[in-house]
Amino acid sequence: MPQIAPSIFSSPKSFPPALPQIVPSILSSDICDLARLLPSLEQEAEWLHLDVMDGCFVPNITFGFPIIKSLRGKTKMFFDTHLMIAKPEQYFERFAEAGSDAITFHMEASEKPLEAIKQIHFLGRKAGIALNDESPAKVAFPFLEEADLVLVMGAPAGFGGQTLQAENVEKIRALRKKIDSEKLQALVSVDCGVNQETAKTLLEAGVDILVMGSAVFKAENPAEELKRLKEGLRL
Ligand code: DX5
Ligand code: ZN
Repeated sequence: MPQIAPSIFSSPKSFPPALPQIVPSILSSDICDLARLLPSLEQEAEWLHLDVMDGCFVPNITFGFPIIKSLRGKTKMFFDTHLMIAKPEQYFERFAEAGSDAITFHMEASEKPLEAIKQIHFLGRKAGIALNDESPAKVAFPFLEEADLVLVMGAPAGFGGQTLQAENVEKIRALRKKIDSEKLQALVSVDCGVNQETAKTLLEAGVDILVMGSAVFKAENPAEELKRLKEGLRL
């Protein structure tokens, strides 16, 4: 497999970002309007979260390589690509080529997570492992040393605008404890059901990255909303 050159757009300073950090998820945005919004969003956030869904791993379909590539030409933000797809390993190289800086795959979709992490690292990208609702924290434990990021779903993967489920907060606590006790570097990210209210609980539970979709993009002015959220949470 050829080594993919680092994206010329990504800033090496963006990993790790300033922590904790809110990362806007474009799932709830008007994609055609993003080119207009990106300059103001990148004033407020270092990363952009990109949800790829295939209608197979999750019962929803979003976008793929061409959209990521097009966005890549318009911003220097760090692209945090969240793959909710079956057989993710088959597509890592193409997501790296399209401009993803971190590639996160679901543990439930991968038969050999350690090999998958190494494959992403070989491509020169940061590797994330995601835990869907049904997977306990301990599923991720054997991979925390190699992974750069562990993404905990606050509600079942596939849709924006859901409610954070309490058991997933406990999952975050368990991961934080494991990472800290073993002095590991993996960042803890949470996705689904994150808003001004739930963010406080999640920060207290030990998350580093708060992925927010509808909380940011349902606002009239997403960048101003992001600023307001950060101020409210003292980030
Ligand atoms: C859903 C996606 C999320 C989504 C979260 O499975 O992975 O990134 O944008 O949406 P909210 O923040 O509205 O729950
Ligand atoms: Zn996501």
